[in-house]
Amino acid sequence: MDFLSNDKLVIVGAAGMIGSNMAQTAAMMRLTPNICLYDTYAPGLEGVAEEIAHCGFKGLNITYTSDVKEAFTDAKYIVSSGGAARKAGMTREDLLKGNAAIAEQLGKDIKAYCPDVKHVVVIFNPADITGLVTLLYSGLKPSQVSTLAALDSTRLRSELAKYFHISPDQIQNSRTYGGHGEQMAVFASTTTVAGQPLSQIIGTKALPRQEWEEMKQRVIQGGKHIIDLRGRSSFQSPAYLSIEMIAAAMGGKAFSWPVGTYVDNGTYNHIMMAMETTIDQNGVTVHPVGGTPEEKKELDQSYHHLCKLRDEVISLGILPPIKDWKELNPNI
Ligand code: 2OP
Repeated sequence: MDFLSNDKLVIVGAAGMIGSNMAQTAAMMRLTPNICLYDTYAPGLEGVAEEIAHCGFKGLNITYTSDVKEAFTDAKYIVSSGGAARKAGMTREDLLKGNAAIAEQLGKDIKAYCPDVKHVVVIFNPADITGLVTLLYSGLKPSQVSTLAALDSTRLRSELAKYFHISPDQIQNSRTYGGHGEQMAVFASTTTVAGQPLSQIIGTKALPRQEWEEMKQRVIQGGKHIIDLRGRSSFQSPAYLSIEMIAAAMGGKAFSWPVGTYVDNGTYNHIMMAMETTIDQNGVTVHPVGGTPEEKKELDQSYHHLCKLRDEVISLGILPPIKDWKELNPNI
């Protein structure tokens, strides 16, 4: 068989736009024959399973269920878009309370039904916080839980390519770090544009500083822009990138866009946020983040913003105080 793995992959939120696209992508990329679709919305779920069946994929064993125990039993990989989606007029962070509670349940279900899962990708927003909550309640190791953040780096790549009228392939190593939210840190110093360092281009006629600042805002507001254009939250790009993350964890091509990962390194503590990372079959490996002092300052601001969101979740009682986290998850 031409599959990457035979392990069971569970797609949570499979009835939704992101979830159904994830299922389609996983089937097309031949990740594993054993894909289980899970969603509490049974009619939509059946509809997605029917459509995948109608594609006529060879060798695929698609199952679907609205029973979480059935879905998670023997799961080796999980990708979850199973939260409420962002609507027009909302920030990702407006979803905090409801989706943090959903993440708590996701973590508990992982612990109860598939503690041997190898990797979990969390993408429902605010992803940095839902990923953190899932990690803590699942009892998994930090290297086993990642969140979607790559979308911001790919948006930077796309904005630069549009601006300079060149192929996106000529933009190398575009990077954002920190939160996938209202305050992410959009870096310039990592990127080259047709071989030239972006930092050397900013402030010249080719890219005046003001234009760069506006571009950064377009990257930060990239998700809102899709909602404005389509009347709904993005789904193709988060679905594709998250399945690439899972494929990497399964032993496919390593994933080298930044992902959200648990950080507790003395500078940034008890937080989940995008860092320089690689995903491969060992899960997430974190690499040092470079950057200029100004970029580091932006990353610090993003971190502090995330700390506030985290502390809000603690005050809601969804997470215990940080001093009790080790009891909840000894792997932290
Ligand atoms: C986005 O940025 C939904 O968070 C996703 O489009």
